[in-house]
This record gives sequence, C-alpha cells and structure tokens, in this order.
Amino acid sequence: TAAARQELLLSRIRDVHDYPQRGVVFKDITPLLADPSAFAELTDALAELCARHGATKIVGLEARGFILGAPVAVRAGLGFIPVRKAGKLPGATLSQAYELEYGTAEIEIHAEDLAPDDRVMVVDDVLATGGTAGAAIELIRRGGAQVAGVAVLMELGFLGGRARLEPALRGAPLEAL
Ligand code: PRP
Repeated sequence: TAAARQELLLSRIRDVHDYPQRGVVFKDITPLLADPSAFAELTDALAELCARHGATKIVGLEARGFILGAPVAVRAGLGFIPVRKAGKLPGATLSQAYELEYGTAEIEIHAEDLAPDDRVMVVDDVLATGGTAGAAIELIRRGGAQVAGVAVLMELGFLGGRARLEPALRGAPLEAL
C-alpha cells in the first residue's frame, strides 16, 4: 500500500541536525540508496507517477536528482536529460538563474534535448524553497517543451516551496511521495 511504502521510505531517510549549517535539519537519503528494496520501491513509485502524468522524458536535477532520475527513466522506458549546475554541459545550453537564501545560482540544460512534443517530468529528492525546480521548469518551457510535472521523494512543507512553484507549474502536478 501507499502507506506501507511511505513508512519504508521514511525509515530510510536520516535527519542530520545542524548540517550543512547550524539550525538546519538535513535529509540524508544515503541509507535509502544503500537499501536495494527501498531504492527499487522509490524508483517504481516515481516511474508510476511519470506514467500517470503522461511524461515522455525525465529531467534530473544535479546531483541527487541524477541518482533518482536515471533509474526512474530506465524503469519508465524514457530518455533522461540532466539539468546541471552552470559550466558543466559541453553543448549549446539554456541557462536559468534563481534565488538562493544568500545570492543566486544558475542551472543549465542542453537545448537540443528538448522538442515541442516532449512532456517532461522533473525528478529530484527534495523540494525545499522550490527555487531549483522552478528554474528547471523555466528551462523546459524556454526549450519549447511541455512540463508534465514535478515528482520528488520529499517536500519540506514548512518552506513554502509548493506555493512558490504554483505559478510556474501552470496547473501541472507537484507530486511528493
Ligand atoms: C538540493 C536538493 C534540491 C534542492 C532543493 O540540492 O537536492 O535539488 O536543493 O532546494 P530548493 O527547493 O530550495 O531549490 P543541492 O543544491 O543541495 O545540490 P546537490 O543535489 O548537488 O547536493
């Protein structure tokens, strides 16, 4: 059941207090990755969401979104597109800057990876402020493709990422396991 799955996944996520800064509780997914049945359960659940929302491609967000997004793409039988931190992709890129708590960050995608009939699902481990996922949505739209939705393992509800992402989603689903 969904409840049993949620319990399994939650039991494999470790809270690390005061990391990377004092006052922050870091959600460490490495115990989940090290457990093959939990990792398979997570991969299946995210692949199901991609199928349900009619995705035709998967975007994974560096770095933890690569670890989750790549097996989901294989499981769902879809191509995988990496969204990388600026300066890492060798081809012609689209770049998108976004706000961090202090300063800004920039992510990039290969423009040639996106076509008008693509319906792209964004996969990541955590939705926190929503800044990264929002920038990824902008990249997908600027590349002329459609956004099938955003699928994450965890949503940190108290940070308000869902509300911040809402305008960018334009009705596309935000799914958190
Ligand atoms: C984390 C996480 C998400 C993002 C969520 O990645 O994996 O991608 O932050 O935060 P937001 O909703 O506030 O944008 P991080 O930038 O730490 O990169 P990493 O995966 O390379 O560690």
